[in-house]
Amino acid sequence: MRMFDLIRKKRDGGILRPAEIRWFIEGVTKGTIPDYQVSALLMAIYYKGMNLEETKELTFAIRDSGERLDFSAVRGIRADKHSTGGVGDKTSLIVVPVVASFGVKVAKISGRGLGHTGGTIDKLESIPGFRTDIPEEDFLRNVNEIGLSIIGQTHEIAPADKKLYALRDVTATIDSLPLIVSSIMGKKLAADDDVIVLDVKTGSGAFMKTRRDSRKLAEAMVDIGKAAGKRVTALITDMDRPLGSAVGNAIEVIESIETLKGRGPKDLTDLCAALSSEILYLYGKGESLEQCEDMARDAIRSGRALALFGEMIRAQGGNPEVLWDYSLFGTAPVTAEVCAETDGYIAGMDTEGIGRASLALGAGRNTLDDVIDNTAGILLLKKTGARVRRGDVIAKLFTSDPQKVDQARDILIRSVVYTEKAPRKKPLVLDRIS
Ligand code: URA
Repeated sequence: MRMFDLIRKKRDGGILRPAEIRWFIEGVTKGTIPDYQVSALLMAIYYKGMNLEETKELTFAIRDSGERLDFSAVRGIRADKHSTGGVGDKTSLIVVPVVASFGVKVAKISGRGLGHTGGTIDKLESIPGFRTDIPEEDFLRNVNEIGLSIIGQTHEIAPADKKLYALRDVTATIDSLPLIVSSIMGKKLAADDDVIVLDVKTGSGAFMKTRRDSRKLAEAMVDIGKAAGKRVTALITDMDRPLGSAVGNAIEVIESIETLKGRGPKDLTDLCAALSSEILYLYGKGESLEQCEDMARDAIRSGRALALFGEMIRAQGGNPEVLWDYSLFGTAPVTAEVCAETDGYIAGMDTEGIGRASLALGAGRNTLDDVIDNTAGILLLKKTGARVRRGDVIAKLFTSDPQKVDQARDILIRSVVYTEKAPRKKPLVLDRIS
């Protein structure tokens, strides 16, 4: 086979055969295809797309490019939830202990944040002592004994995706449906889970900005997950506003703990209840989604989910006292306020902008080597729909570096849109694909 022929075929709108896709991914993994030819094919896929069969083959080839995880030592059905990435998205920290409190086994491999989106592993590492790199046997033992464990990626999962993603990042080919689907599902399917619930974000803070594109993405991911023998459901959820009020790392863990105490923001609590209910339902824990949602809310009300979160912290070397004493997270030495520019209503927020403001404060990284400032972040006191008067404090900024405040404040101010009339309310869960 010749790369030239594959590029020309896709450039002209042709359909790649399974053997050609496998050959391509093998070449990417082994490093035998030069970057310029890989990039050319990525651009051809970006413009001409791929049908479902091609996307499925690409996904399975990416999955098979590295190690497949073996969770067979876990007793019971394994479940996971995956978000396509958002701002203020701390749902894993809440959903995992909620479903685990019903005996659902969650052996979760999570990622770090990059760019404007946060990552679960960075958030967990803001808990003093918490280790996300525990040995695999401890990880699986924790899942068997307490029902849950969350660690960072240790194995060479889907190395082809790592190379493709790096090239997509610099060739403006990230936002291509078949490339996103195969990248996310290629990695997800390399983990050994039976039940997968996908949280597909849509809106200004998401990879997919429109509801139509997000639905197509979700449908393809569900189809491919099912073709791989998994029980899968996807919710399409709004990312036109950050989730909850906290954006950062320690600040998001604190908001998660508050939510597990039943005192969290309504949007975050509702989404966690919806995602948990989907997992419990697919797992066969309840008769209907409504019943499963009641069960999820009860796990919060009763404190069972909070207690399990504390057990997970202890089992991974962290200090569970953080549940009751937030000062243990440390305090940002610099705080600043952002005020409303006018009277009226907050009509919308450029969620990606809020993510970039948090990044500018030190809560994220621009390159994988950047060191995160755990206490940096943003607390949004007013969100979309809130009525404000000029000068009202709409957000608080936290950082260790006073020089970072001005840039973050500028980005945040530019991210907020005001109107005179109250904007229409939008539901958080926009669609469900199963
Ligand atoms: N997350 C991924 O892992 N891959 C993508 O292509 C987009 C989001």
